[in-house]
Amino acid sequence: MNTPLPHAERLEALTRLLADWHWLWSPAPFTHAGAPWPERTPAADIAACLQALDDARCQRLQQRPFDASPLAAWLPVDELARLVRVPDGAPPIQAPEAWAAHVGGRKWQQMLAFAPQVAVGQGQRLVEWCAGKGHLSRLLARRHDGSICALEWQPALCESGQALAERQGLEVTLVEQDVMAPSVSRHLGDADRVVALHACGDLHVRLLELAREQKVAISLAPCCYQRTRDKIYRPLSRQAQQQAERHGLSLDREALALSVQETVTASQGERRKREQANAWRLGFDALQRRLRGVDDYLAVPSLAYGRMPERFEDFCRWAAREKGLTVPDGIDWDAYRRRGEACLQRVNRLELVRHLFRRPLEVWLVLDRALWLEEAGFEVSLSQFCPRALTPRNLALVAQPA
Ligand SMILES: C[S@@+](CC[C@H](N)C(=O)[O-])C[C@H]1O[C@@H](n2cnc3c(N)ncnc32)[C@H](O)[C@@H]1O
Repeated sequence: MNTPLPHAERLEALTRLLADWHWLWSPAPFTHAGAPWPERTPAADIAACLQALDDARCQRLQQRPFDASPLAAWLPVDELARLVRVPDGAPPIQAPEAWAAHVGGRKWQQMLAFAPQVAVGQGQRLVEWCAGKGHLSRLLARRHDGSICALEWQPALCESGQALAERQGLEVTLVEQDVMAPSVSRHLGDADRVVALHACGDLHVRLLELAREQKVAISLAPCCYQRTRDKIYRPLSRQAQQQAERHGLSLDREALALSVQETVTASQGERRKREQANAWRLGFDALQRRLRGVDDYLAVPSLAYGRMPERFEDFCRWAAREKGLTVPDGIDWDAYRRRGEACLQRVNRLELVRHLFRRPLEVWLVLDRALWLEEAGFEVSLSQFCPRALTPRNLALVAQPA
């Protein structure tokens, strides 16, 4: 691919586009019985175009929003596609099958793809941030033939991780440590690099903060940007702060959550179940609006996987109980179920606008992190370390202090 755009330039262009179209991508169609957008050109044309799509085209655009999009008639689809293009990382490393013991298949593939992002010399000291059972640490210890300190706050994960490392004769030490606690900085003192695969929101921001202070190299694949204390996102870098202010871009937690909402790794079965759950929620939404006599969305708690009732009626009765609503006799359950299914067709089509802005949002957040380190004198590179089908959180940020 061509030389990647400088981070600051890319951030500036993305800030402008995200701010210009904020009114269109930020309202969630799921929570609106009617059009989610203000009456503004070209909202009505976009809605009409999306509602006319057949199921196959809708599904294709959910998967590949930038390819042959009918929205290009109104929205800067090609420019967004160009701005989210990030170079591919080095190919995955090869490792013996036996090394994969105790690691889930998909996680193992992610780790093989992430490993080349971790450059480390002989005898250098690695720290893994939010390590779980230290699966990545074990792979890296084998690859680099060195010692690794893996930080994790759950004692049970530390214990089983330590047992696995010892059984395999590896120099990996699982340390029970809350990475948000001040005491964490002692682990970075003599570290040559900190690695973090899928460290959530504030947990990876804390890592960036300490890496800046202590001038430590990092290899990070961030995720779950919405897991953060602040209700409104405060850009980390001076450049993102300035750009956001200049263009009037403000991101709340829902916007941050949108950046990571993707189902590319779900199986067909899981997808069908999720579709049904969404249709039932929309069916209940129609019902609750009638029962309350209030034409407003009512958030219903999520249900743990496998806890969804078998029948639509039972789901509605559960949701009504949760929200303190009384369900009268004589409800035509089938009619509400069908209504939910029809609403979902509409919502899925309107959501296609948000699919277009999801990756730009994520890239914007990663650029903010990259620039924050660059402003502290680090050399930073971004790459896509694996295909989206393996994990949509496939951006890696590698930073080296000057
Ligand atoms: C999303 S998992 C990632 C685990 C592993 N890196 C992977 O890719 O499978 C996040 C891990 O961070 C740990 N964690 C969450 N909060 C933490 C904290 N404050 N301090 C240390 N670890 C934490 C969790 O227990 C969990 O094991």
